[in-house]
Amino acid sequence: MGKEVLYKRRDDVATITLNREDALNALNTPLLRQLRALLADVEADESVRAIVITGAGDRAFCAGADVHELKDMSPIRARDWSLWVQSVISYLEQLSKPVIARINGYCLGGGLELAMACDFRIASDSSVFGLPEVNLGIIPGGGGTQRLARLVGRTKAMEMLMTGEPIDAKEALMLRLVNQVVPVAELDAAVDTVLNKLRAKSRLALRTLKLAVNNGLEMDLERALRYEAECFGSAISTHDAKEGLQAFIDKRKPVFKGT
Ligand code: COA
Repeated sequence: MGKEVLYKRRDDVATITLNREDALNALNTPLLRQLRALLADVEADESVRAIVITGAGDRAFCAGADVHELKDMSPIRARDWSLWVQSVISYLEQLSKPVIARINGYCLGGGLELAMACDFRIASDSSVFGLPEVNLGIIPGGGGTQRLARLVGRTKAMEMLMTGEPIDAKEALMLRLVNQVVPVAELDAAVDTVLNKLRAKSRLALRTLKLAVNNGLEMDLERALRYEAECFGSAISTHDAKEGLQAFIDKRKPVFKGT
């Protein structure tokens, strides 16, 4: 495997780093292929509880799809490429483990599309967010038109998409596009705080929560509530649920085993 994506393990956390610093970590085909393969590996690795995705260097999380690759694409190739990129990003979104985007610097185009598929987005205060594709005469093709509107609403999404203008971290927080904004020196600590909170939970409950929220949001309310009830039934069938409920009654901290 190449080095467009780096993988590091610290205890039960897998950190994946987009590693094309000279190109502001722009997404090219080798990078996306490696990312997809790595995500499958960490999904299958039971010793990994959570995943952090970040960008190499201090300038960018990711400045988008690699413009050089897009330049000569035929419409058919571009359609297929878009479907493939969407599938990689949807795979990321559907991972059974919590995923945190650690964002420092530019988070543009495909970078924002990737970040929007994560469960948490924690950013440094110098980060910049946008979908600038319109400035290149194209549109986002990695889910941006859909996920941005779902996350921040149609009004602001349309403005960002049509003007192509980026927003700063403060505005991203105000729009609830990110969970948290901190000075860059505090970024790792902020990510660790979230990881520690997640570590104390049942991994099965977290997994079921992801299913309920991500799948339910795409259903009408009646079906979504029905789906939630099915998820609730599945959550309560675990040993972790028995432990969590009993621990409350016993006035002690639960010990979740992920079974
Ligand atoms: N694809 C390929 N290369 C990219 C890239 C992208 N999306 N974004 C940045 N790069 C490369 C630049 O070409 C440059 O490479 P070079 O040194 O070989 O010329 C390097 O990364 C640094 O970028 P540069 O533009 O010189 O930095 P800057 O500080 O002047 O500007 C940005 C930073 C992010 C504003 C600018 O790089 C940019 O607008 N990038 C494209 C963003 C975009 O439109 N993304 C959507 C693509 S569909």
